[in-house]
Amino acid sequence: MRIGILGTGNMADALGTQWARAGHEVLVAGRSADRAAALAGRIAGGIGGRTACRAGTLREAAAFGDATLLAVPHAAVPEVLKEAGADEDGGGVLRGRVLIDCTNAIGPGFVLTTQGGPGAAARIAEATGAHVVKAFNHCADSVWRLTPPAFPDGPLTAPLAVPLCGDDERALETVRTLVRDMGCVPLAAGGLDRAVYLETATAFLIGLWVSGKDPRRMLPPFEAATA
Ligand SMILES: NC(=O)c1ccc[n+]([C@@H]2O[C@H](COP(=O)([O-])OP(=O)(O)OC[C@H]3O[C@@H](n4cnc5c(N)ncnc54)[C@H](OP(=O)(O)O)[C@@H]3O)[C@@H](O)[C@H]2O)c1
Repeated sequence: MRIGILGTGNMADALGTQWARAGHEVLVAGRSADRAAALAGRIAGGIGGRTACRAGTLREAAAFGDATLLAVPHAAVPEVLKEAGADEDGGGVLRGRVLIDCTNAIGPGFVLTTQGGPGAAARIAEATGAHVVKAFNHCADSVWRLTPPAFPDGPLTAPLAVPLCGDDERALETVRTLVRDMGCVPLAAGGLDRAVYLETATAFLIGLWVSGKDPRRMLPPFEAATA
């Protein structure tokens, strides 16, 4: 698969490395050509140069792939989409393409900056006309860097489930493949109208994690919760 990445920070690094390792062709881009080149080198170097990973412009990254990952701060999304040629009220370069939205619009106090309006994914879908899939926003980049992201579950080690919200079956199947390729399991979490709940739940989870509380302790086993 060909994957374009908008952003050259931690999430671009973590997910780009996983997908390059799985044999996908990755093109990374950001506002700094130097940082994009450095990341492309790091991704290729990190997996022994066995990959096709290169840097390009935001415009190239948006038009490059079978999927595009949007990995910039929420506040920077309009600027980045404009630079990529993707913000023309649904008529830009990302129209009809698979766009993975991992952004979190979380401000001080773990409050959503989108509160009271459409969620981040809905805004991105509206601006781009892309088949947006919300994914990978609910865990830190340190989790996505694990090979694989899997944790003890009783006596076994279970792969991490990645909730996906989206409306387009082809886009969802593309992202399910990318989830499995990094050793995780996809978790169907509803249409794009559910993405705002995933965004809200993530703000809630981060608030607990950062204050040293383990949210797993509030969750009963599945059988008990559904009895
Ligand atoms: N890191 C995590 O643990 C994590 C986990 C889940 C979701 N997320 C979400 O994923 C997204 C990316 O996070 P990240 O941790 O990868 O961020 P990051 O490491 O800070 O990288 C952000 C990227 O966005 C670019 N950027 C920032 N402001 C910009 C602007 N005004 N115009 C153009 N480009 C701009 C940065 O470019 P420069 O390098 O030039 O500044 C960089 O390429 C965010 O929405 C975040 O909430 C992060």
